[in-house]
Amino acid sequence: MKFLFIVCIIIILVFKYYQMYTTNNIQSISTSNSSNVEESQLWQDLIRMQTPYTTSPCAFCYPGTPLLPDITKIASLAMSKQINLIGTHTIGVTSTSNENIGESGFEIAQHYERELIFWIGKLLCKHDPEHVKDIVDGYMCGGGTEANIESFWIAREYLRKTMEHPDEPIYVLFTDLTHYSITKAMHMMDIKFVEKVKHTNKFEMDTNDLYDKIVMLNSKGVKHFIVVGTVGTTSCGSIDPISEMSVVLTKVQKEFGVHTYLHVDASFGGFTVPFVTNNVMIGFENAAVQSVTVDADKMGRLPYPSGMFLCRKGLQKYVETRVQYIRGHTDDTVSGSRTAISAVAGYYYSQKYGYVGHSEYVNSCIRHRNMLVSFLSKIKGVTVLPHSAYINMLPIIIDVVDGKIPSEETEKGIMKDYHMRSDEVNVNGKMCTVYKLCIMEHTFPYIEQFVSDVERMFNKYH
Ligand SMILES: Cc1ncc(COP(=O)(O)O)c(C=O)c1O
Repeated sequence: MKFLFIVCIIIILVFKYYQMYTTNNIQSISTSNSSNVEESQLWQDLIRMQTPYTTSPCAFCYPGTPLLPDITKIASLAMSKQINLIGTHTIGVTSTSNENIGESGFEIAQHYERELIFWIGKLLCKHDPEHVKDIVDGYMCGGGTEANIESFWIAREYLRKTMEHPDEPIYVLFTDLTHYSITKAMHMMDIKFVEKVKHTNKFEMDTNDLYDKIVMLNSKGVKHFIVVGTVGTTSCGSIDPISEMSVVLTKVQKEFGVHTYLHVDASFGGFTVPFVTNNVMIGFENAAVQSVTVDADKMGRLPYPSGMFLCRKGLQKYVETRVQYIRGHTDDTVSGSRTAISAVAGYYYSQKYGYVGHSEYVNSCIRHRNMLVSFLSKIKGVTVLPHSAYINMLPIIIDVVDGKIPSEETEKGIMKDYHMRSDEVNVNGKMCTVYKLCIMEHTFPYIEQFVSDVERMFNKYH
């Protein structure tokens, strides 16, 4: 009896203690809720936070950049409206009709997104910009990876429709310099076969090899091909020759009756190349191009994530799902519900800065990259590799010890704040450690310091 009494007392005490503990926690949460957010630790931490873009010196390798103050303002206001852009809002809109039906209540944001897609779309339809609405569909998404996945989803369904048997193989052709998200997209779409195409000494796809590889595969019975061209490769900033690739694909379609889908990953170069030259056509001017990825959180100066998926009009039908509960009744995106922040901020950017303002920005980045080239060319241990005139990136070899920078210098030494990033790249037949530099406005003030730090580091070891 006495024992039972003691057990009951212990249970009551434990219960009381638990009650006290949870009430205290709830009180402390509610106290922090009722206090001013600007006094919270989190707010203070965020205010103090230094990102690799704002340290001194800053990162020289990341493709992002600090946001313009007015973009931050627009993005915050757009976020506060809690807009859902589910579906695609260019569908049904042509030069003669305006029949897009989207989820209700968000029509203004749908309009902004549509205009932004057509704004960039015009630069990918330089052969006929006036008819961009008849040529292009597209939407904003969670970055370059997601746009590449949408492309592969459409490509697989598009090619399947041309198959006699649903299990015929699809081969994907690309170079070693293609972004890893393409392999991810293949895995997700259960596409198993890859044929690597050689790249030239300028890190561009070798189109003779592309032709030969397709002929070789076709001789083994392969009839379906997805080919990926990159405009602004992640490690070198090089541009695959999209127009020549398109000519090769048109030729093999005619010669061998094969079916092809050409996807262009212009995640980086979509916001540079078409703004600074009319000599290089990277989009729908090329007959074989079916879809293009652009990523506005790289050179488009928009907040993460600002991926853009663009394709030939009507192609998204291949992945459309009927959804009873959405007004418009379709979803043809990987995303489903998605933010309007990037679409609204991007529309603002396109209106305020326009083609001229943005091409001035890109040109200034390229000018500074060229200045860096002239400085680095004089530094011992540095080899400046071939680089595109239309992309503000620079691949270099920095041979301090064994063909690279010693890791103590990148992790905690002279090069730490530059956040140097490298890839193993085939340079003239030899695998080399190649550092990629990405020159954007926030790096301009540190260019000379970077050069003198590279020189200082080299001298420390020699
Ligand atoms: C060529 C290329 N494609 C795709 C991506 C993926 O972009 P994200 O990280 O926004 O998905 C990158 C990122 O660097 C890239 O360079």
